[in-house]
Amino acid sequence: MKKRKILVTQALPYANGGIHLGHLMEAIQTDIWVRLQKLRGHDCIFVCADDAHGTAIMLSAESQGISSEQLIAKVNEEHQRDYAAFSIGFDNFYSTHSNENRELSESIYKALDANGHIDRRKIKQLFDPEKNLFLADRYIKGACPKCKTEDQYGDNCEACGSTYSPAELINPRSTISGATPIEKESEHFFFDLPQFSDMLKEWTRSGTLQDAVANKLSEWLDDELQQWDISRDAPYFGFEIPGAPGKFFYVWLDAPIGYMASFKNFCEREDYNFDEFWKPGHDTELYHFIGKDIINFHTLFWPAMLSSAGYRTPTAVFVHGFLTVDGTKMSKSRGTFVNASTYLDHLNPEYLRYYLAAKLSNGIDDLDLNLEDFAQRVNSDLVGKVVNIASRCAGFIGKGFDGFLSVELDNEELIKEIQAGKDEITQHLEQREYSKAIRLIMALADKANQYINDKQPWVIAKTDSQSVELQQICSTGINAFRLLICYLKPVLPVMAKEAESFLAVDPLVWSDIDKLLLGSKINKFKPLMTRVEADKVQAMVNATQTEYEQQQSSSVSAPEQDDTGFEPEIEFGDFSKVDLRLAKIISAEHIEGADKLLKLNLDIGLDKSGKPITRTVFSGIKSAYKPEDLEGMLTAYVANLKPRKMKFGISEGMILAAGPGGEEIWLLEPHSGAQAGLRIS
Ligand code: MSP
Ligand code: ZN
Repeated sequence: MKKRKILVTQALPYANGGIHLGHLMEAIQTDIWVRLQKLRGHDCIFVCADDAHGTAIMLSAESQGISSEQLIAKVNEEHQRDYAAFSIGFDNFYSTHSNENRELSESIYKALDANGHIDRRKIKQLFDPEKNLFLADRYIKGACPKCKTEDQYGDNCEACGSTYSPAELINPRSTISGATPIEKESEHFFFDLPQFSDMLKEWTRSGTLQDAVANKLSEWLDDELQQWDISRDAPYFGFEIPGAPGKFFYVWLDAPIGYMASFKNFCEREDYNFDEFWKPGHDTELYHFIGKDIINFHTLFWPAMLSSAGYRTPTAVFVHGFLTVDGTKMSKSRGTFVNASTYLDHLNPEYLRYYLAAKLSNGIDDLDLNLEDFAQRVNSDLVGKVVNIASRCAGFIGKGFDGFLSVELDNEELIKEIQAGKDEITQHLEQREYSKAIRLIMALADKANQYINDKQPWVIAKTDSQSVELQQICSTGINAFRLLICYLKPVLPVMAKEAESFLAVDPLVWSDIDKLLLGSKINKFKPLMTRVEADKVQAMVNATQTEYEQQQSSSVSAPEQDDTGFEPEIEFGDFSKVDLRLAKIISAEHIEGADKLLKLNLDIGLDKSGKPITRTVFSGIKSAYKPEDLEGMLTAYVANLKPRKMKFGISEGMILAAGPGGEEIWLLEPHSGAQAGLRIS
């Protein structure tokens, strides 16, 4: 067999948020493919990094009161921890904010420039005069110029669907500071993509892309290509452009170069040759796994840049669709936008690896994680079929034969049939048709179970627990199990490892499928996987919803301030609609599972017949107050705020506090002498 040299990447996750199920789908798809190649004995390297640059990261760090460098270091650690928990076997996980990436980005840019592929010209853009920042479209809001709906983003209207330039918005404002943006001119650098039109027409049709992707691209390529704006003005978190003070590379310029940089960093540690994988003319393969939202960056700009700068182009770009949950886009309020860490609190990562493998194909259609089907599928396939084979045979081998397998099998035909699936299963996995591979593997598992059902070893064991026949039947079962585990190893590395220690064998590789396990001693069987419990799935959804609601209740919505930093004026009538009263906190308690909220029981005065009125309020003040300190306190209360359904119950109105947050939150407390129910005016 020829040993292939393969470099694989998945898209670099942004460093301004956590890893979620959508990211994991991509990582799992890629990881299964990489593990397959490694198990087959190929030299396959899998690199990734955090995509650490851009305005979003800069602003996010600022709002958390830390530097961008601190933010990306913290997130990098979290990302690596999450991926590791799902057994994503990166050979290197780096950051685009690295020296390697700076050097490569600069040298590639210089090559593009020297080759006449960089154009410079002035453009007008909206600018936030308070933050001194040019505003990307998503940071501008205003009323739609066509239908006048308020609060629309800078490039299109969600109400009427029209598209426009942000300068056309009525009363535009910066979502960062609230200021009215002004138009300002500045010089930008452009990558001259149109010069690559012929090169790209050929490259996209040379077997590098799935048909569906190539077809989509030919629509763009038939139209005229546009130059690509690769510069951003300071302040920007990224790399400054050489020879252009105050100008930075747009994050999408240095992000894909981050693939190279991560590999370069790997080469500094390991005995690999960078040029062999990135310069033309070597017998190596390069693959990028990406989602369908970032096709243009990987199949237009990226190959064009690489070819201009004298590097090789990718062997192929593998595009996948989006993960949906229960039939719709992942949603925070519905609890289906699940973070990796939340999943891990409740469920075994291998469940997800298996379920996604059982549904993944090499197309670009979306893939649905149906939560009911998820539990059912994992339970019936993995627990009910695969693990069951071992658990039905292992005990008899342990008891009757001191753990020793027979040297001959009862049914070699069955084992040969399972081995004969190898070529087809390998091919499906290689083609990223994982669901087809899993279907074949499970059909073989069915056969093995059927065989055990027919032979009924438990009946034989009752009369003679040491009969040769019993040993040979159970050894046939154990061999079937071993082969199925081998096939599943790219998908379920943890379960495979436990199976290896049960079978007392060296780590299985692909060529082990051609072998048998005879006459050796196996270990005592321990359940390799437990059933998915439906209530754990629900608990994960609930926890996701709670995280979201707590975030909502603790974040102050961005105010629309005027020049003085205060809210816009309101009419007296608006104010008098608010029923503000004094309330007495009767009791306060912690809520299980809530990080920020306390549950308060309030006395808000007497009703007309003289009966006390009480209300329940959930308040995000846990970081500043102990429940026992609150009891008996009087404070200001909004009595006519519409009740809000929260995870832990209904919150009726809210109490008022001041302060930046954390330990610094102060409830508004009147002088003594006041009493619950008094109207504040
Ligand atoms: N930082 C860029 C990629 C730069 S690559 C040089 C980016 N980051 S991302 O965090 O938004 O997305 C990373 C990958 O996750 C992308 O391939 C994206 O398509 C994928 N997914 C994000 N949400 C997804 C789903 N819901 N489902 C499947 N994949 C999804 O884009
Ligand atoms: Zn509109």
